[in-house]
This record gives sequence, structure tokens and C-alpha cells, in this order.
Amino acid sequence: MPSLPGAIAPFEITPEAHWRNRREILCGLGAGAALLAAGPSAAASRWDVSEAPNSWEDITSYNNFYEFGTDKADPARLAGGLVTKPWTVRIDGLVERPGNWALEDILKGMPIEERIYRFRCVEAWSMVVPWNGFELRRLLDRVGVKSGARYVAFETLVRPSEMPGQRRRILDWPYREGLRLDEAMHPLTLLATGIYGRDLPNQNGAPIRLVVPWKYGFKSIKSIVRITLTDRQPPTTWSQQNPREYGFYANVNPEVDHPRWSQATERRIGGGLFARRQPTLPFNGYAEHVAGLYAGMDLRKFF
Ligand code: MTE
Repeated sequence: MPSLPGAIAPFEITPEAHWRNRREILCGLGAGAALLAAGPSAAASRWDVSEAPNSWEDITSYNNFYEFGTDKADPARLAGGLVTKPWTVRIDGLVERPGNWALEDILKGMPIEERIYRFRCVEAWSMVVPWNGFELRRLLDRVGVKSGARYVAFETLVRPSEMPGQRRRILDWPYREGLRLDEAMHPLTLLATGIYGRDLPNQNGAPIRLVVPWKYGFKSIKSIVRITLTDRQPPTTWSQQNPREYGFYANVNPEVDHPRWSQATERRIGGGLFARRQPTLPFNGYAEHVAGLYAGMDLRKFF
């Protein structure tokens, strides 16, 4: 294809630049025309934060995904061999319609939205990520939660042939997480399938992962293969591994230090080596939406 001097070839346009274009189109036109031009995922949501999202590069190259190793560079380097098609999620426990759900069937008719969320890791770094996904409550409504259910448990795939970190007992596999049912039903809680309008890269938890923006990042379990509704608080990987350091709730709380470091501030990835640390906000800035879930609870005890 002939190209003009100085013109940008399509392969040079990053997902981020493409996404910015769509957003600019959206701001420049009337909403109806913009939606037609940009596709449904570009509509701004009431849950979006106003901070600029991190670059595609930042979001996809600095990850924790212990199934591929403990170094931040391991997931991007080693997750390419994970086969994510076909993908099945077993949904069981206290639900009306238990079974093995093909991902395509889960996604059928699900309104995929774009949500720009803050993401705060327990290790005191943070990012802003434009996720694509749907509210977990929509899936729970579809399978029908039975009246005795109080918690939702999640499990990640176990496949050591494709997940080299699982050939060692770094953690007690499968990686497990859990939410109280009201946390799971909160409209901020997403099942994400993409970033910047593209499918999730394997290192970010393809093809489907949880995003709970008011909790430390480890709650946001990746590559989910099982969702179980239960009447009892389920075991979670990090609280089993080290109950003194990691609790079931894992709400972002600048007033409760990790036993080995302060949680009062955070380093925004991509800000450069000398960027100032910024104060960490209670519930990662989502207090107005979620603080009510914990009314009357001592969050120093239930950390
Ligand atoms: N999920 C699984 N299955 N395995 C993991 O090691 N790490 C958690 C969480 N989910 C992890 C996981 C931690 S500690 C963080 S900070 C986030 O994933 C990182 O998500 P990101 O790669 O999208 O930034």
C-alpha cells in the first residue's frame, strides 16, 4: 500500500491510539451518530474515572499472574501458549441452572460495556485501565441464585502444560478467590473480556477475568473456569497462603498497613521513575458507591 510521507501505517496504530480516536469521535459528534461510528463499547459510563488510562504497553507488560511465574515480566513472556478457545466456565452450587457454560453462550446477548477503572495492587502500585466487560450480576441473574447463597467462589484454570508456573508449588493451585454475594451483585463488579476494545491478552487473564475496582488487585482473579455459589465464606488463595498479611475482604484501605509496608500511598505505573507517589484513597476512590456494603464492620479486623 503506498503511504504518504509522515503518514501512519495501520500496523503502527496502537490499540490505545485507535481507542483515543474513537473517544474523540464520540466527544465531537452527537451521541447517536458517534455510537454508530464508534461501536457500543465507546460510550462513556457513569462509573468511569476521569484520570487518563495507562498505555496498552503498561497494562499488558507489567503483570502478576503466578501461573506463569512470579516476575512481573513472566506473564507477557510466557502466557502466549495458553489456549483460550474453546473455553468453558462451570457454574455450580446454589444456582437454579448449574452446568458447564461455553463462553460464547455466556456472552450471547450480554451488553459489553467499556469501564475506565482505577486498579490498585496490594504491592502499592496502580494503573487506570479501560476494561471491556459486563456486570457479574447479569450472569448471576441468568443462572438464578438460590435463596441460601451468601458468597461466590471463583477458580482459575489448572493446566501446567500451558502454565509453566503451575509446574511448581508457588501457590496451592488452582488460584481461588471469593466475594460476598452483595459485593458480587454490585454494578461496579465486572467480568472483563477485553481492554482498549480488544480481546484480553493472555497475561491479563484471557478469556474472562474478574475486576473488583475497590479491592486490591489480587481479588481480580484471571482466566476463570469455575464460579460456585455457596452459603459459606470460601477459601481464597492469598488468605490461605498468608492469613496474617491477606484477608478475605482485601478492601483498599490506606489506614491499614500491610504488615511489611504502608498502604497510605501508591506509585502510578507509567508516571516515570521520579514521579511523586500519590495518596491512596479509601476503597480505591469508590467509597461513595461501596462503603455502605461494610456499614458497621470493623475494617481493621475484616481486612
Ligand atoms: N489471578 C490469577 N489466576 N493468578 C494470579 O497470580 N494475580 C492477582 C490478580 N489475579 C493473579 C490473579 C494480582 S496480585 C494482581 S495485582 C492482578 O491479578 C493483576 O492484574 P493485571 O495483570 O490485569 O494488572
